[in-house]
Amino acid sequence: MHKIGILTSGGDAPGMNSCIRSIVFVAEKMGISCFGIMRGYDGLIDGEIISLNKSAVNHIIAQGGTILKTARSSRFMTYEGRQQAYESYKKMGLDGLIIIGGDGSYKGAKIFQDEFKVSIIGIPGTIDNDLFGTDYTIGYDTAINTAMKLIDQLRDTAQSHNRVFFVEVMGNDAGLIAIRSGLAAGAEDIHIPEIKTDINAIFDKIACKNKDESMIIVVSEGDEYSTVELAKLAKEKFPALEIKTLILGHLQRGGSPTAFDRLLSSRFGLLAVQSLAKGKSGFATGIINGQVQLIEIEKVEKHLNYIKPHLLEMLDYFC
Ligand code: F6P
Repeated sequence: MHKIGILTSGGDAPGMNSCIRSIVFVAEKMGISCFGIMRGYDGLIDGEIISLNKSAVNHIIAQGGTILKTARSSRFMTYEGRQQAYESYKKMGLDGLIIIGGDGSYKGAKIFQDEFKVSIIGIPGTIDNDLFGTDYTIGYDTAINTAMKLIDQLRDTAQSHNRVFFVEVMGNDAGLIAIRSGLAAGAEDIHIPEIKTDINAIFDKIACKNKDESMIIVVSEGDEYSTVELAKLAKEKFPALEIKTLILGHLQRGGSPTAFDRLLSSRFGLLAVQSLAKGKSGFATGIINGQVQLIEIEKVEKHLNYIKPHLLEMLDYFC
């Protein structure tokens, strides 16, 4: 193993840069040269590569986003696209790839490995935390902290006007960002795709609202009802109340990673380089009960309907 490539793919996540830094540091220590492939699989197809060394990445540990840029490549989904990617891979003279991304990126990695016998290790990077094989993905901790802080700020103004806010958070079809950020921000109600939303139960809660208080209802973007729909229904039912919506959107994806995400991504980077150097391929890094470990990449499905029981219990008591 002399030369490895790193790419980030799918939605960016805070901590991806810390992970790139970690890979470069570890590789350099092991005498392996590191190259960054720009714009995810699209950059692999186009042969867009930059050389990385310790001084180039030393201070990116605190930077959100990804210095390598990212994309969701439709070309890589075709055999022709992957063949072109393999041609570029050979031209670059790489001995292996580390791919940081979510389930779509992993699927691409697995097919590419099987078709062209390329050595690949995946690292889970997505704010959604929706992958099996790891308790945490890179970016999730930062995203829930960002969402929590934004909801805290919203509370100040909502409370001053006694308003009801429906707040939409990201997470795709997983409700983990909603449930954790909502509980941490003391939201009065939380709606996630994993639990059926009962409109009448929402109305009952709003009806019980003290007139001198605000109310914040967090809704995951994957919920069966959108924040706008829910707010419209609530306004029809309670015309005297001031009911508003806020979509936190991509603000949740940016920002400097938390210490947790910086350390997690550094550990994942370390394990990924060590594994590639040992000749392993077709695995993804993960952390289970505090231990970093490898899982076969094909087993890393996206998980749905997976909310830990203690969070459901908290919903019962605090919302
Ligand atoms: O997967 C990360 C994520 O931020 C999801 O939470 C969200 O549904 C999606 O990406 C948004 O994607 P885009 O940035 O392409 O709009």
